[in-house]
Amino acid sequence: MTRPTPCFFTLFLLFLSVCWGQRSNTDRGRLSCSRCNLHFTCNCSHGGFTRVPVVTDRALSLNLSFNNITVVTSDDLTDHSQLRLLDLHCNRLATIHPSAFDSLRSLEELDLSDNQLTTLNHTWFSRLQALQRLNLLNNPYSHLDSPPLFKGLIHLRRLMFGGPALKELRRGDLSGVTQMEELTVHANNLERYDSGTLGDLWPLGRVTLSLHTPILRNESLASAVLSDIAYPETPIVLEDLHLIENQSVQAFRALAKKRIRSLSFHNFSVSDESVIDFLVVMDGVPLSHLYFDDVTLTGEGRWEKASWTDHKSIDEFFLRNIVVLDVFRFTSFLQLNFLLHYPRKVSIINAMVYVMPCKTSHLLVNLQFLDFSDNLLTDLTLAETLCEEDETLKGLRVLNISGNPLKSLSKMSKLVSKLTKLTHLDISRTGYSSMPSNCSWPATLRHLNISRAKIATITHCLPRSLEVLDLSFNDLKSFSLDLPILIELHLSGNKFLRLPAGQLFPSLQTLTIQSNTLNQFGHSDLQSFRQLENLQAGENKFICSCDFVNFLQSQFEGREVKLTDREDSYVCDSPFYLQGEAVSQVHLSVVVCHQVLFVSVSCGVALFVGMLVSVVLWRLHVFWYLKMIWAWLKAKRSSRKRSKRSEESDPLLSFDAFVSYSEQDASWVESFLVPELEEPSGDASESPSSSRPLTLCLHKRDFLPGQWIMDNIMSAIERSRRTVFILSENFVQSDWCRYELDFSHFWLFDAGGEAAILILLRPLSMDNIPRRFCKLRKLMSSTTYLEWPQEEERRPEFWRSLRTALRRDDS
Ligand SMILES: *[C@@H]1O[C@H](CO)[C@@H](O)[C@H](O)[C@H]1NC(C)=O
Ligand SMILES: *[C@@H]1O[C@H](CO)[C@@H](O)[C@H](O)[C@H]1NC(C)=O
Ligand SMILES: *[C@@H]1O[C@H](CO)[C@@H](O)[C@H](O)[C@H]1NC(C)=O
Ligand SMILES: *[C@@H]1O[C@H](CO)[C@@H](O)[C@H](O)[C@H]1NC(C)=O
Ligand SMILES: *[C@@H]1O[C@H](CO)[C@@H](O)[C@H](O)[C@H]1NC(C)=O
Ligand SMILES: *[C@@H]1O[C@H](CO)[C@@H](O)[C@H](O)[C@H]1NC(C)=O
Ligand SMILES: *[C@@H]1O[C@H](CO)[C@@H](O)[C@H](O)[C@H]1NC(C)=O
Ligand SMILES: *[C@@H]1O[C@H](CO)[C@@H](O)[C@H](O)[C@H]1NC(C)=O
Ligand SMILES: *[C@@H]1O[C@H](CO)[C@@H](O)[C@H](O)[C@H]1NC(C)=O
Ligand SMILES: *[C@@H]1O[C@H](CO)[C@@H](O)[C@H](O)[C@H]1NC(C)=O
Repeated sequence: MTRPTPCFFTLFLLFLSVCWGQRSNTDRGRLSCSRCNLHFTCNCSHGGFTRVPVVTDRALSLNLSFNNITVVTSDDLTDHSQLRLLDLHCNRLATIHPSAFDSLRSLEELDLSDNQLTTLNHTWFSRLQALQRLNLLNNPYSHLDSPPLFKGLIHLRRLMFGGPALKELRRGDLSGVTQMEELTVHANNLERYDSGTLGDLWPLGRVTLSLHTPILRNESLASAVLSDIAYPETPIVLEDLHLIENQSVQAFRALAKKRIRSLSFHNFSVSDESVIDFLVVMDGVPLSHLYFDDVTLTGEGRWEKASWTDHKSIDEFFLRNIVVLDVFRFTSFLQLNFLLHYPRKVSIINAMVYVMPCKTSHLLVNLQFLDFSDNLLTDLTLAETLCEEDETLKGLRVLNISGNPLKSLSKMSKLVSKLTKLTHLDISRTGYSSMPSNCSWPATLRHLNISRAKIATITHCLPRSLEVLDLSFNDLKSFSLDLPILIELHLSGNKFLRLPAGQLFPSLQTLTIQSNTLNQFGHSDLQSFRQLENLQAGENKFICSCDFVNFLQSQFEGREVKLTDREDSYVCDSPFYLQGEAVSQVHLSVVVCHQVLFVSVSCGVALFVGMLVSVVLWRLHVFWYLKMIWAWLKAKRSSRKRSKRSEESDPLLSFDAFVSYSEQDASWVESFLVPELEEPSGDASESPSSSRPLTLCLHKRDFLPGQWIMDNIMSAIERSRRTVFILSENFVQSDWCRYELDFSHFWLFDAGGEAAILILLRPLSMDNIPRRFCKLRKLMSSTTYLEWPQEEERRPEFWRSLRTALRRDDS
């Protein structure tokens, strides 16, 4: 056995090479990532990749954040000339090949933040002409590269750089960068700054700076940075500033000099001394917006030492996520008239406020917007805060008490009814579980938000003056209140089974009713809303009937009302085989959609075809053949049975001949044939044996009554030595029953003419014999037959011949 070896060997080689090919692929560390959606947005984040994976070159957005990628080689990203966004945030990138990004000609956004890049190389970005946003934050580089990194990036509008390791910024580092919509610099440990480095960026949008150490330790450095980026219209955000003792904020003088208008602090802790210092530094500055986010107040709120300062231009105080270290000693700001007298907007969000004393409220004389969301106000303390008894805060237009543990809606309505200018009231995420039957609201109220409460039914408590009503995420099942000027209605996250009646809302333009239990809606439902332009009804339990699917698909094509939520949020819930499929992708067949039509058409077609087939079959006499075959089979079976029986009992043959004839020829048989053959012949010239009477089997006479006719025929034929066919026109034209009889004869006597004797009673032309009597035709052409002579004198001759034929091999 040497021959199969080469063949086997080649196969083995082939197998090896295939394996090796795959191995080499993984050896290079390039797995593939196929988590792309229809819009070619590929989310490969958290994928455990250690190399840039292979992704379709049609990808427009590639998110590789939160992996373990250490290197981007020169050919990792070739073929990605269409890529718009590349996110490599939070990997372990230490090496990027100088030409790694060269093919990304369409790249608009690049995120390399939180990696291990110790140096930045301008060659990475040299071909990224389309780049608009670049994030280089939090890598361990200590300086930017020279030649300037960003020189060629003429479309760059958003830039983030810096990190804990950034030590120096030199003049020219940002050359080429001009207009900025957003600039973020993390420079908490900056040690060296060439004045003017950031000074050429103009116009300059929002600036976010982390300058913790310089502000505390090197005032001149911090001032230089701040004065380079400060413009009156540039909002400035200072991050990570911790002034927990009596540290100076003199560096802010640079901002004060530039008369900035908007200042924010994120991740900020501050002592009373530093607050006072800040207020002094900002004395007279037209600062109008002050935002504090993630703030820790280490003091007691005693800032009245700065009460001589001027803060008339303050328009908005925004405080969110406030932690007061010493809550119990903290004052109620009663001395802060110099600050509280001016603002029109005050937001104190998520600050564990459980009450604002009415006396403090008195100070807020210009207040129009008050946001106390996510605090600890109760029905009782809210009454104190809003000064139940008097006219305080009567200029209020917007009141937001979202996310407070309030219980009584009627109390709420009473409290606000005196606010005669109130247009917006947000009492979402509260504990309201029922709605009183009537309420009193200010006549000006237009926007009411009671979402995410526990309301199960609505009543006439809701004022007819509303234009925007948000009742999403409650327990509502129906809505039957007419609101004549309502423009927006939000009912998502309830238990609606159907759309509310549109007649109730003649002005409604926007309706959101997502995440309910809607089964269907249709043309007529939408028509009842006369002004509706914008409907969001996804994430419901849709029954995908044909009507609904057709209707919705036509809606997606932009007819009538616009469905403004995402198409793929419309998902079928039933029927079962469509569950989970997006309605826009469903294709229901004609069979399902036009069942009645389909059934009637297909029945009609089936009927027609059936008729056609029957006609054809009839024309071809197929029924006749089938009937014959069936009869024959049946007869054959019973014949077999019978012959088994008869082997034991009867002698097999008991007739000389079975006579097969047509009913019309019966008279001839009875008056000529039977007398002639069954009675002894008077012809003496014949031998005695030949004059012996013959026994004939006639169906009329010898068939056993009660037995099946085919059986009778079979047994008659079997028990007869010969079969005599009396042929005539009648024979071949006789009825169906007759055909059977005849057919069986021929079939059984396959032997041919041996056992059959044909008597032609009247002349019969071959052409008159129907084609299906092919056996008979064959017999007639191959076997000589006896002709019944019309002339009297030739008849003895006929009888003699017949007798002889019947007696052949009769020993
Ligand atoms: C991307 O995929 C990750 C992991 O499957 C998932 O945690 C993350 O939420 C996705 N991000 C987006 C923006 O879809
Ligand atoms: C990255 O690798 C480290 C160990 O090398 C592992 O602990 C970590 O979970 C990996 N991170 C991801 C996102 O796969
Ligand atoms: C990339 O994915 C992460 C995690 O899923 C997500 O936080 C981040 O926003 C995504 N980036 C972009 C640009 O969408
Ligand atoms: C930047 O890349 C070029 C080309 O590889 C190289 O010559 C140069 O030294 C690199 N510069 C830095 C600062 O790594
Ligand atoms: C403060 O910054 C300036 C300018 O970068 C520098 O010359 C000076 O040495 C720094 N001073 C301190 C105390 O670090
Ligand atoms: C807040 O600032 C401190 C000190 O700079 C820093 O360690 C911390 O990570 C910052 N927190 C956030 C949430 O940025
Ligand atoms: C801070 O307080 C200490 C004493 O508690 C004092 O010596 C120092 O001068 C104060 N610094 C400023 C900037 O007020
Ligand atoms: C009220 O506050 C919540 C949470 O801060 C916010 O989502 C909502 O938009 C605010 N409402 C108004 C009318 O400002
Ligand atoms: C509300 O109904 C109560 C009785 O249920 C009635 O006393 C009160 O006057 C009604 N208030 C208004 C404003 O209609
Ligand atoms: C109502 O309040 C919720 C939760 O505070 C908020 O998400 C939603 O946007 C508000 N609705 C409107 C119409 O402003």
